[in-house]
Amino acid sequence: MTVRRDTTSTLLSFTPLVFFLTVFVSATLLIAPSVGWAASTTTDVGVPAASDEPVSGNVDIPVPTDPIAKAAFDVLDTHCARCHQDGRLEGRLKPAKNFGFMLMLDKLAADPHYVVPGNPDGSRIIQQVLNEEMPYDIYYEFDLAIEPPTEVEIAALRTWINSLGDVETAACSERTFISPVDMVRTMADDLEKVQDTRRIDTRYITLTHLLNACVSDDDMEVYRQATVKLLNSLSQVSDVIRLEPIDEAGTIIRFNLRDLGWAPEDWDKVLAVYPYGVAPDSRFFDLLASTTHTPLPFVRGDWFAFTASQPPLYDELLDLADNFGGLQVDLGVDVENDLDRYTAKRAGFQISGVSRNNRLIERHTIPTGFLDVL
Ligand code: HEC
Repeated sequence: MTVRRDTTSTLLSFTPLVFFLTVFVSATLLIAPSVGWAASTTTDVGVPAASDEPVSGNVDIPVPTDPIAKAAFDVLDTHCARCHQDGRLEGRLKPAKNFGFMLMLDKLAADPHYVVPGNPDGSRIIQQVLNEEMPYDIYYEFDLAIEPPTEVEIAALRTWINSLGDVETAACSERTFISPVDMVRTMADDLEKVQDTRRIDTRYITLTHLLNACVSDDDMEVYRQATVKLLNSLSQVSDVIRLEPIDEAGTIIRFNLRDLGWAPEDWDKVLAVYPYGVAPDSRFFDLLASTTHTPLPFVRGDWFAFTASQPPLYDELLDLADNFGGLQVDLGVDVENDLDRYTAKRAGFQISGVSRNNRLIERHTIPTGFLDVL
């Protein structure tokens, strides 16, 4: 079952980061109460037509020019693409485990679920081969006609993953480290510029530690967008809020509790489960805390995305009912009545990306958008 509000239904393009995925899920499924909801609800079916169509053969797969990357590409092409690359699948309509971008090396390299730059043994694509899990057809279907990757081929994959580590560190060496004191100084300066009646409700989400940890510029942008999207999806008001970072490096995002329809107590709920509550010893911090009347006016964005996008914090922040009847009351919708009056809209799908059976989606209008029932 999915509830979606129109204010946040724009979809961001795919990004592999776990952080982002968490936000994506929460933003798409604005309300996902913990009771009676199966894991299958975490798949977006808001745009069923696109996701249910088998991927056709014309996928543009860039062939790398760098020899190290090309060597890895060839290995993955020979041994993995038949099940894990859209456009090159053999004997299947969908990529195995929904993992269909094995040859899109940039995308693969940026997804820590599969590849950890600089750390081949920590990378799942290597582990699966070493543990004789993959290629699947050899180890599980006992297809004797197929050869597993050779030592040399595995070494080519390792070399590529190691080389990614070098690139990453080089990209980061030009950055200036932002200390916790710099961070609170920036926030304290910013707070000065905020209208004085709004200062007390001002809060910040920080991504500074991610920049310090060498996260790429592209990924930083994803983190920023994800933060803004998550805050909007946790909002109690229907207006979308626009948020910009306050610092040059783009690592600190300011928001106001009132703009989200939150009370100061809602922030307390966040702090109650926040594990990184260390205050830098700085007069700027004292100024921040006293002006905003909270022990800590900022939290880390990646922690926030992970924690606030799932129960229990998610439910608490959105004040969700814990059963479907209560949810209907909160949303001002009467599903039975809509069905009796023929005002619900339904669509059925024969092929579903997430279920073996055909599926039905049912849409009900609510004052803030739609309730989609799957
Ligand atoms: C014949 C089809 C097939 C081939 C070839 C194949 N795989 Fe897989 N792969 C699968 C299937 C099926 C699963 C899901 C297995 C499961 O969930 O138990 C899977 C799962 C995976 C996963 C885990 C995905 C996740 O999200 O956790 C990784 C990583 C993976 N494969 C890597 C590889 C690599 C690397 C190769 C090439 C060396 C390869 N696979 C070749 C069928 C294949």
